[in-house]
Order: sequence, then C-alpha cells, then structure tokens
Amino acid sequence: MESHYSIIPKVNYLEKKEGHFELDKILKIYLQPDLEEIRSIANLTKSYFKTFGVEKVSINVRQKGNEPKGIYLKIDPSIKDRESYELNIQSEKIVVRASAPNGLFYGIQSLRQLVHNSQISNCVIKDQPQFSYRGMHLDVSRHFFTVDEIKKYLDQLAFHKINTFHWHLTDDQGWRIEIKQYPKLTSIASKRKETLVGHYSNKPQQFDGKEYGGYYTQKEIKSIVKYAKERYINVIPEIEMPGHAQAVLAAYPELACTEGPFEVATKWGVFEEVLCPKEETFIFLENVLQEVFTLFPSKYVHIGGDECPKTRWVASEFCQDLIKKENLKDEHELQSYFIKRIEKFINAKGKIMIGWDEILEGGLAPNATVMSWRGTKGGIEAAKQGHSVIMTPTTHCYFDYYQSNPENEPLAIGGLTTLEKVYSFNPIPDELTEEESKLILGAQGNVWTEYISDYEKLEYMVFPRICALSEVVWTDPTYKNWTDFSKRLSDHFIQLDDMNINYAKHF
Ligand code: ACM
Repeated sequence: MESHYSIIPKVNYLEKKEGHFELDKILKIYLQPDLEEIRSIANLTKSYFKTFGVEKVSINVRQKGNEPKGIYLKIDPSIKDRESYELNIQSEKIVVRASAPNGLFYGIQSLRQLVHNSQISNCVIKDQPQFSYRGMHLDVSRHFFTVDEIKKYLDQLAFHKINTFHWHLTDDQGWRIEIKQYPKLTSIASKRKETLVGHYSNKPQQFDGKEYGGYYTQKEIKSIVKYAKERYINVIPEIEMPGHAQAVLAAYPELACTEGPFEVATKWGVFEEVLCPKEETFIFLENVLQEVFTLFPSKYVHIGGDECPKTRWVASEFCQDLIKKENLKDEHELQSYFIKRIEKFINAKGKIMIGWDEILEGGLAPNATVMSWRGTKGGIEAAKQGHSVIMTPTTHCYFDYYQSNPENEPLAIGGLTTLEKVYSFNPIPDELTEEESKLILGAQGNVWTEYISDYEKLEYMVFPRICALSEVVWTDPTYKNWTDFSKRLSDHFIQLDDMNINYAKHF
C-alpha cells in the first residue's frame, strides 16, 4: 500500500513514518480534557469519519493509564500559537495536540485529508499558519444564497483552514440582513423588480422580468455565526456606505441628497445615488450598526467605503455647506469626514473598522484597517501610515474573474485570475520594511456574484482557487512550490469529488 501525504494547505513540517493506522468499523475518540469546545470538535470529527465508512464513532473521556487504539485530542500548553497543532499518527494511536481548540480543529482538518482507502499513513506533523487573517468573502446582494448554502460554504472554508468569512450583506441590488428598527430594509430594499440577463456590456441589455429577493432573519444570522464559530471561523459583516446604497435609498429616500423615488438596482455597476452625510443618515447607520453588533461578536466590522461617486454631493447645497463648515478641501475629504464619524461610533462600541482602500482618499480614519483591492498600492500606503492591512488585490484574489480562457468558461465579469496566479501571490509587498510587514494581517479571496446566480456556479468559481489561496495564507512561503502543489491537488480533487464539490475541472 502506497503512502499518502497530500494535505492542502501544505503543512509546514511532515516526517513520514513506516506503517499506517487502519480504520476499523468502530472508531474511538478520546478527549483530554473534557471541555465543551473539544467535545464539539469530537462531534465534528465523528461526522467526518462517518463519511469514510466507519460504522460507529464513540466519544470518550480518557481514563488514566493505558491508551487503547483511537484518536486522542489533547490540550498541550507548550505549543505556542492557538492555531498551531501537532499530529502524530502511529499504527495504534493518533494524537492531535494543541494549546487551544483552534489548533485541535486544524489538526483534525489535516487528519481528514490523510484518510485513503480506510488507511492513514503514519507520520509526524508540526504545523502553524503564516497569517492570522485567512479570509474568504461572499457577496449575497447580487445573488442570494440560502442559510444551508452559507453553512456548506463555511464547511468548505474550514476544510482549507480559512478562519474568516467576510459577508457582503448590502449593496445596490439588495439589502440582505433583517434590522428590526428599519423594517423597510427587508420589505422593500431586499427585493428588486427584475435582473439583468447576460453580460452587462451586451447591447441591448436584457432583463428577466422576474422579481428577485431574499434576506436573512436575525435568528438565521445567529445560527450561521454559531455554525461558523464551531468551525473556528469569524464572521465579519459588511454594511456598505456611503456608496453602493441604492437599495437603502429605495426604502428610505430621505437619506439621499436628492429627492427620490429610487428603486433597488436591477443591473450591475456603480450608481450615483449614495447616502447623504446628513444627521439623519448617521442616526440611521448607527442604529443599524448597533443591531449588527448584537448579532456578530466579531471585533471587526466592514463598512465598505468603495466606489462612491461624488456627483450628488457636488450638486448638493447641504454637502457644500458642510464642506465649508467643517473646513474640508473637497468631496473626498467629505467622504473621509463621513467614514471618520462612523469609525468613532464603531470604536466607542469596542470594535475595529475595516474599509476598502478608497477610505485612504481624503485621509484615513485613525484606527481603520484597510482592505486593499485595487492592487496592493493602497495596502502599502496604509501600512506605511501604520495601519493594519488585508490584501485582496483583483490581480490575485478576485474569484469572480475568469480562471482560464473565457471562450471555454461560463459567463464571468471579466479579468483573468488563473490558479497559478493565485498560488503565486505573496501578501507581503517588497516595498515594506520588516516592521511594516507585520501590519499585513493576511489575505482574502473575494467572490462578487453578479454572474454567479447559484451555488453550483459559486463552487465552480471558488474551487480550486481557494485551495491555492489557502496555501498563500497558511504555508510558510519557503515551502510553497507550484509543482508540488499541482501533485497534491490531484489527490485533493478525489476528496472534493467525495464531497460533491463542483470544482473547475480544466486544470
Ligand atoms: C470592490 O471590488 N469594489 C471592492
């Protein structure tokens, strides 16, 4: 029997050993100590191994003394980082050690990937992440995904040791989160009257004539956040402002600079109808954020900040007076004033604000973390100003772009982000000093869904690029190797097949 050691993301230390652990009909998991969180990991482990043909998995608290055959989950304070783990596979015993449940969970994810025809090849693994922020994003405004689909997505993220889910909940084409104080956000802003069919650049543009909508109740959101937490994923909500807000204005036109009525957008793009920096807008946003904070324990909240045209602000007497009153230079500084006010509120609630790199324009809010999407330039600038940064450049991290020759691909927005391109990404730019580099928290794959209308296509766009990204953020770059990754990926595909994941097959 050939040994199999394919794990994605690649582990940072692996010593192969002779022999293997044979999966029997009954598998025993032993906990030490018996903590609720470790029990929850054991329960997940049980569900994973049931898919490998094991008939019964029992969870036991370990007795002192002899150690019968089984999988042992052990807390070991001598292991440094919470997410690090050690995995020791011997013919009679598998031991996962970590200083915290996070690491145990990742040890189990590696173990799952080592199962091959009811055998697990013996080895010693010592592993830890390269970056603390390992993210995947999902836009649920352009197209809506059900609670079960979001949970499936979270399972797929966890399998690749991704620890952050950036949930893009609001945009011009639909508001997707229930806010009790503003019922029109769900009764009006969550629905659009129809949707563009085909590519935006097709002329003439065609629409399907069908109402489209959806939103998550607060109860559903809580269940998703809990589900994510059990998989060691932090959920960061994004509430877009001051741009990408046309759906909000359809429900509450009084928050615009001009008179409505407005309608929830039915096609893609950047719209001129944006929030007006009036007192009532800030009151609205603070009330919304207040409810958001009760649902998401995340210390981070994302406020968008990207692609906000200034046309309406230029023409607005109120905005021009505000610019004078606040001694601002122009509309960019007005946007900065807007974002800084929101940050003050967010910080006062003990949270940290993330914004897209446009929040650099007109001056960065004092404590903001910048998500660099228009290349890495914004991230470099932010880090040089002493701010934390998450890298998501379109060139390497946009999974809504084509992944191979568009002629052979289903419709996508454009661009080209091949698997190899994703794999080649180094989130630390050469321009930064060692000290500044510490401000790069990690990277994230972004999935905008203008052209992704169902879960099957979502999987197609995400896989296997997420596999490459997972290695970018987890594995020490000195161990990264494209040829080696390609080989492991072939094995990985068998597992993705077993999980019925619709990955792109051209690779
Ligand atoms: C973005 O892609 N507009 C952040």
